[in-house]
Order: sequence, then structure tokens, then C-alpha cells
Amino acid sequence: MNKIALKFLHLLDPEIAHSIAIKVLTLSSKKKFLFQSERLKTSIAGFDLPHPLGISAGFDKNAEVIHAAFNYGASFTEIGAVTPLPQKGNTKPRVFRLREDLGLINRLGFNNHGIDRIISRLKMRKVSGVVGINIGANKNSNNMIEDYLKVMTKCFHYVDFATINISSPNTPNLRKLQNTDPLKNLLSAVTDRNQKFPKPMKIFLKIDPDLNINQLSSLTEMALTFKLDGLIATNTSISRPNIRSNNKWESGGISGRPLFSLSTRKLAQIFDISRGKIPLIGVGGISCADDAYTKIKAGATALQIYTAIGYSGMGIIGNIVKQLDRLLKNDGFTNLHSAIGIEHKKWL
Ligand SMILES: Cc1cc2nc3c(=O)[nH]c(=O)nc-3n(C[C@H](O)[C@H](O)[C@H](O)COP(=O)(O)O)c2cc1C
Repeated sequence: MNKIALKFLHLLDPEIAHSIAIKVLTLSSKKKFLFQSERLKTSIAGFDLPHPLGISAGFDKNAEVIHAAFNYGASFTEIGAVTPLPQKGNTKPRVFRLREDLGLINRLGFNNHGIDRIISRLKMRKVSGVVGINIGANKNSNNMIEDYLKVMTKCFHYVDFATINISSPNTPNLRKLQNTDPLKNLLSAVTDRNQKFPKPMKIFLKIDPDLNINQLSSLTEMALTFKLDGLIATNTSISRPNIRSNNKWESGGISGRPLFSLSTRKLAQIFDISRGKIPLIGVGGISCADDAYTKIKAGATALQIYTAIGYSGMGIIGNIVKQLDRLLKNDGFTNLHSAIGIEHKKWL
């Protein structure tokens, strides 16, 4: 996406702009990012990645541009959120730019084509690379746990990891699944079912940044007990930290730069609570290589990005990766793993 195209998209409603960008990306055919560096290699949950930066859930809700994610240099990508049944989501408008803050507020509400249609797209996938699915429950579900199991059962063959999303603020009661008893029931059902598949997926849990330290602590202990493969920190926040834009009071979750500090603190707290024992994917407000490096030093083994792509285009992925390599090199690191968590105490 060049600068003029981006300027044009920024004149449009953000949801319309995103769907145009997705249409354009479906046409992507060539690898545009070929940079490689031994220093950037990372490994999470058994996946060996050429570098840590992937695309987070919500960007490619319906698995339409997996190939484009890899063409532009993402080291992994996460489709969804996907629910068992197709869902329209909340009424529009439901995505708002926070221009002055380089952020967004969204209250989409898991709009997606439903697992059956998305599976048919996954079946046609030609590119290799680590692909995950973000799983959510339908808004009118009368058994949310069953919804996660239904999606898992249909998709295990076609994806490498599943993210149990209990942290979106836009589906009523979803975040309540983070409470101790419901979470225990959910994780027990999810891990049991996963072990029955001929090819179990890696299981990640995505957390919300509005949890307090006690909630974080019990959730982390639970993730360790159930031997989850990783935690993704974080989803969007219902808080409104230091935002100047007029859209500040729209309801929904904030993402992008205003989320950076909050999500990084939660990441560091989990790293501290788990003493680095559970792999972490850091996401929230990454918009430059410094941000990416900061998340790694706060405890992330891999990273994800979404909102900054809307502001800067897909090229931001490659720029961050190349500059991250330089930052690590300047600090004398020969491998990324040695930098993980070294500054997490700063964030506690
Ligand atoms: C428009 C939009 C839709 C999103 N949809 C999902 C989703 O379906 N599932 C999910 O787990 N996270 C979703 N997210 C959250 C992102 O995956 C990510 O956790 C969050 O935006 C913070 O990263 P960022 O600041 O780089 O955007 C969405 C974010 C945005 C902006």
C-alpha cells in the first residue's frame, strides 16, 4: 500500500477502509520481504519462527489474506475471531479512529463468516507458515464452552494453534470466563478435547488488559496447571488512558498506541508471576521497533501487531523487523532469546 492509497483510505470510515485493504491484499502475489537474520530467530510453543512479529486477530477475520500476511513478512498470523455460526456483529458505525493518539476503538462484536465457510477457505490455503485461529463464542450462545469446542473440532486439522479468546470486551459475558471457576471448566474442556484430536493444536489463551494483579495471578497459575502453550497479552482495553481524540467516549475496546503501556505492564506482570515459565506473545500498541524491543525486554517471546498497520500500511511489519535486528545488535545481543524479560521489573 503506497502513501497516496493510505491517505485515501484514511478519508474513509475505518471499517470500510479495512475491507478495501483486505480486498486489495487478496491480490497480493509476491514475497515483498526477504530480510533474514539469525539474531531474530525465535521459538514459541514449538514453532520456529524467522523473527518474532506476527499479525494479531481481528485483522483477517475470515481467513482471506493469509498469503498476504506472509508476503509482507509476518512470521505467523492469527485469523478470526471465528464463532460456530456466522455473525453480523454490532450495528455500524462500530470502529472509530483515535487519530491524534494513533489508536482505535472498536465494538465489532465478532462479525465473521462462521467456522464452516472459513474452513472451506483454509482448505484452499497454498502457503505454508504458522497459522492460528482465534476462537470466540456466538453472542446468543447458550453454552459458550461448547462454542469453543465446536470450532476447535472443525478446525484442528487446518491450523497450527488455537487462541481461546475470553477477553474481547464486545461480547456480553465473555470476559466473565476469565473468573476462576468458569476458566477452570473451560480450560479443562478445551485441553481434554484437544488431546483427543489426531493432531492436537497448540493452545494459547488471550487475556484482557483490564485484569487486576490478583486476577492475573490466578489466571497465570491456571494456565500453568493446564499446561497451556502460551498466553497472549493483551486484547483491547475498556479503559481510556491519556486519549485526546474526540472519539474517546465511544464504547468498545481501545487498541494502538494508547494501549501500549497498559498491555506491556500486564505482559511483564505475567512474566514475573510465572517466572518466565509460560511463553508470552506481546501485543498492544506496537508501532515501531522500539516498541517491539520493549515488549521483548518486558517478557515477550513473540509479538503481534494490528492497529499500526491501519495507520502505516503493511510495510510497517518489515520495517519493524529490520530495525529490531539493529536494536538487538547495538545492544550486543547475538540472539533474541537472551533479551526476553531482561527489563520486566521496570514495568511492575
Ligand atoms: C478492529 C479490531 C478487531 C479486533 N478483533 C479481534 C478479535 O476478533 N479477536 C481478538 O482476540 N482480538 C481482536 N482484536 C484485538 C487485537 O488482536 C489486538 O489484541 C489489539 O488490537 C492490540 O494490538 P494493536 O494495538 O497492535 O492493535 C481486534 C482489534 C481491532 C482493532
